[in-house]
Amino acid sequence: MKMKMRGGIMVVFVLALTTTFCFGANVTYDHRAVVVDGKRRVLISGSIHYMRSTPEMWPDLIQKSKEGGLNAIQTFVFWNLHEPVRGQYDFEGRKDLVKFVKLVGEAGLLLHLRIGPYACAEWNYGGFPLWLHFIPGIVLRTDNEPFKAEMKRFTTKIVDMMKQENLYASQGGPIILSQIENEYGDIDSAYGNSAKTYISWAASMATSLDTGVPWVMCQQSDAPNPIINTCNGFYCDQFTPNSNNKPKMWTENWSGWFFSFGDPVPHRPVEDIAFSVARFYQLGGTFQNYYMYHGGTNFGRTSGGPFITTSYDYDAPIDEYGLLRQPKWGHLKDLHTAINLSEEALVATDPETTSLGSNLETTVYKTGSGLCAAFLANVDTQSDATANFNNNSYHLPAWSVSILPDCKNVALNTAKINSVATVSKFVRQPSKDDMTTTSGEFFTGWSWINEPVGISSNAAFTKLGLLEQINTTADQSDYLWYSLSTEISRDEPFLNEASQTTLHVGSLGHALYAFVNGELTGSVKGRYSNPNVSIDVPISLIPGRNKIDLLSLTVGLQNYGAYFDLKGAGVTGPVQLKGLQNGSTVDLSLQQWTYQIGLRGEELGLSSGSSSLWVSQPTLPKRQPLICYHVPRSWLQPTANILVLFEEAGGDPTQISFAMRETTNICSRISENHPAPLDMWASDEETRKITGPTLLLNCPSPNQVISEIKFASFGTPRGTCGSFRHGRCSKKDAISIVQKACIGSRSCNIGVSGNTFGDPCAGITKSLAVEASCS
Ligand SMILES: *[C@@H]1O[C@H](CO)[C@@H](O)[C@H](O)[C@H]1NC(C)=O
Ligand SMILES: *[C@@H]1O[C@H](CO)[C@@H](O)[C@H](O)[C@H]1NC(C)=O
Ligand SMILES: *[C@@H]1O[C@H](CO)[C@@H](O)[C@H](O)[C@H]1NC(C)=O
Ligand SMILES: *[C@@H]1O[C@H](CO)[C@@H](O)[C@H](O)[C@H]1NC(C)=O
Ligand SMILES: *[C@@H]1O[C@H](CO)[C@@H](O)[C@H](O)[C@H]1NC(C)=O
Ligand SMILES: *[C@@H]1O[C@H](CO)[C@@H](O)[C@H](O)[C@H]1NC(C)=O
Ligand SMILES: *[C@@H]1O[C@H](CO)[C@@H](O)[C@H](O)[C@H]1NC(C)=O
Repeated sequence: MKMKMRGGIMVVFVLALTTTFCFGANVTYDHRAVVVDGKRRVLISGSIHYMRSTPEMWPDLIQKSKEGGLNAIQTFVFWNLHEPVRGQYDFEGRKDLVKFVKLVGEAGLLLHLRIGPYACAEWNYGGFPLWLHFIPGIVLRTDNEPFKAEMKRFTTKIVDMMKQENLYASQGGPIILSQIENEYGDIDSAYGNSAKTYISWAASMATSLDTGVPWVMCQQSDAPNPIINTCNGFYCDQFTPNSNNKPKMWTENWSGWFFSFGDPVPHRPVEDIAFSVARFYQLGGTFQNYYMYHGGTNFGRTSGGPFITTSYDYDAPIDEYGLLRQPKWGHLKDLHTAINLSEEALVATDPETTSLGSNLETTVYKTGSGLCAAFLANVDTQSDATANFNNNSYHLPAWSVSILPDCKNVALNTAKINSVATVSKFVRQPSKDDMTTTSGEFFTGWSWINEPVGISSNAAFTKLGLLEQINTTADQSDYLWYSLSTEISRDEPFLNEASQTTLHVGSLGHALYAFVNGELTGSVKGRYSNPNVSIDVPISLIPGRNKIDLLSLTVGLQNYGAYFDLKGAGVTGPVQLKGLQNGSTVDLSLQQWTYQIGLRGEELGLSSGSSSLWVSQPTLPKRQPLICYHVPRSWLQPTANILVLFEEAGGDPTQISFAMRETTNICSRISENHPAPLDMWASDEETRKITGPTLLLNCPSPNQVISEIKFASFGTPRGTCGSFRHGRCSKKDAISIVQKACIGSRSCNIGVSGNTFGDPCAGITKSLAVEASCS
C-alpha cells in the first residue's frame, strides 16, 4: 500500500561539527556512508521547514535540534512561496532561505536541501505555483518540454543563490546533500514510459548544476547514477539502495503524522520511533532524518490536502510552539548519544548480523584494530526475551533494541525511557473582562462587517454551464460564488404544496453553502480522504424569479498523487431541482451562471483591519466556539494589535483569548533494571560498573527550579505522568528523600535502588516514579 504522505530527507550521521567548515570539503559517498572531507559520517538529521516558523524562532529551534543530538537539518524549498508570480521572487522574512541555511551552518550543523521542486509536504498544490497550470501545453512531473524548462529554471535559481552565498560544503558551507524530485517512484506508473525519461532527465539536469555535493531521490528505486535512492517511511530497516556503491539512507522517518480536519490527532509513541531508528542503524544505515523534528504551522493559505489543518505539529520532538515534547525529544537525544558512541565502529566496517534465537537478532560492527559496537534486537511484538551475547545475558523488552557501544555495556534500550516527561498546558491570559488595568488588555472591542450573500462585485462575470473552481479562481481566493436566477412558472408542479422540492448539488469539493432566495438552506464539507461533496436539501420556491447562490470553498489544494494538479474542485454538477414525483427534475447545470471570485471582504482588503465599513454595536453576532491558532510572539506589538477573523458559521468572538503554552510539571519513572545513565559513558569502565540506574529530573527552562514534589514512590507505582498512584509495594518516605535531593535545584539525580530508599518488598523489581513542579 502506498502511504499518503510525502516529505523526506536523507540523513547521514556525521561527526558533529562544532564550527562551520572554513575550507571547501567535497562531499561524496560510498557503500557505507556519505563521505565529507574524506571521512564517512553517521548522520542524524531532522526536518525543520523554515517557512513553518518565524525567523525569530529559528535560532532556538536549531539550538534545540543540536542539543537533541542531531548533526543535520533537512528542509524543503517551496516553489509557490518563492515565486508566487512567474518571474517575481520573494525571499523575505519567513522565506529567507539564505538566512536559515546560514543559521544552521553557524550552529555547526549540516543541511540537506530538498529543492524538489515538487515537495508534497501537505503544502498547497505540493509546492507548485498555480501559474504552472496555465502554461500552454504543460503536463507536470513528466517528460514535457514546457514543464522541464520551468523546473530547470527554478532549480537553477536556487542552486545559484546557494552558490553565490558559498553555502555548499564544497564551498565551505553547511549543505552536504540536495534532492531532486520527491517520491516520484510511488506514482510514476501513471505517467507511462515518459516517467523513465523524465527521471533520467531530472538526474542529469541536477548533476549538471555542479554543486560539489551528492543529489538524492527518495522512493525512486531506479534513480540513475550518481543519484542516491533513499527510503521514506515508518520503518526503513529492510531497505537496500539500488547499487552496491550507494549508502543506505532514510530521508523521511515519520516521527508522527499530519493532522487533517475531522480526523483524529495523530500520535506515534517514542518507543516505536526509537526502535525503528535503532534497527536502521543496526542493519547498516548511516543517515536518517526525522520527518518532522519541528513541524510548525501552515501560515496563511499554505496548507495542502485538502483539509490539512493550520497546525503542522506532527507530534514531533519539538512541538508547534517550539517547546520540547517530552519524553520524545529526550529519549531520542539519548538514542543519538548511544549511536554517536558507536559511530567509529559503525563507519569503520560492514555489519555482521546473526540470529540469537527466535525473533532475536544481533549485529556486530567489529574491526581488526579492536573497535566493537553491537545492537541486540528483540523483534517480537509481545514477549520480552533474554539474549546471551559474548557470555553475558541481556534482558530485551518486546519490540526493542539495546545498543552496546563497546559490545559489552548497554548504553540504551529503546523501550526504556530515561528522559523526563512533561505536562504542558495553555495558560489563558487575561482578557478585557478580567482586567482591572489597561496593561495586558488584549481586546478593547469588536466591530464587524456582514458578508453579503451572492454576487456583490463589479468583477463578476457570466458563463454558460458550471466552471471548475481552480481553473477559475487560479487559487487567488478559496471562495467562488455560483449564482443563478431561474424562472418558476405558476403551474410548475414544484409549487404544489403536497410536493416537496429538493435542491441537488454535486461538487468536487471541498465545502459548499447553498442559499435559495437569500436564505441558507444547506451546507456540507468533505474530508481529506474524500473531498467530493453533494447536497440534497428541501427548499421552498416562489412563483417567478428564484435566486440560487452557491458558495464553494477550497480548503487547501491537493498535494499528492499522480496528476494531483488536475483533480479540480468546485460545483461541477449536476445542479438540479427535483420534485417528489419521478421525472420532475430540472437540470440547471447548463444554464447561464454568474461567477464571483472571492468574497467582498477580500475585495475590500479587510484583513488589514482598515475600512470605514466596520460597525460596532452592543450585540455581537455569535453562535459557536472557535478553534485554536498559533500566533507567533513576534507578530504581537506592545499595543494596538488588530485581530481580523472571517467566521463562516457564526463564531463567538467574546470567547477568544490569548493563551500561553507553558510547561509546569515534569515526571519520570525508572526501574531498578534500567541501564545506567548515558553521561556515565564519559567516565571510565569502573565508574560505569558501580553506577546503577538513576532518575534525572530537570526543568525545561534554565530560569526554573523544582519547587514541589507532587508525587514520589519507590516500589510498584502505577499510572502515568499526571496520574501516578502508589502500588501495593511503596516506600512511604520516598517523597522526603526526593524533596531533599531536588527542591530548589534546576535538576537532580537520584539513585534508583534500595541503597537510596531501603527495600519495601524484597524479591520484586521496583521502580521510582516522581512528578514535580517547576517554577
Ligand atoms: C572539489 O571538487 C572540485 C571539482 O571536482 C575540485 O575542483 C575541487 O578542488 C575539489 N575541492 C576540494 C576541497 O577537494
Ligand atoms: C559524538 O561524539 C564525539 C566524540 O566521539 C563528540 O565530539 C561529539 O560532540 C558527539 N556528537 C554528538 C552529536 O553528540
Ligand atoms: C526514526 O525516527 C525515530 C525517532 O523519530 C528514531 O528513534 C528511529 O531510530 C528512526 N529510524 C531510523 C531507521 O533511523
Ligand atoms: C566465553 O566463555 C568461554 C568459556 O569461559 C570462553 O572460552 C570464551 O572465550 C568466552 N567468550 C567471550 C567472547 O568472552
Ligand atoms: C470525486 O468525484 C469525481 C468525479 O465524479 C470522481 O472522478 C472521483 O473519483 C471522486 N473522488 C473520490 C475520492 O471518490
Ligand atoms: C482547466 O482548463 C483547461 C483549459 O483551459 C482544461 O484543459 C482543463 O481540463 C481544465 N481543468 C479542469 C480540472 O477542469
Ligand atoms: C422513482 O423511481 C425509482 C427508480 O427509478 C423507484 O425506485 C421509486 O419507487 C420511484 N418513486 C416514485 C414515487 O415513483
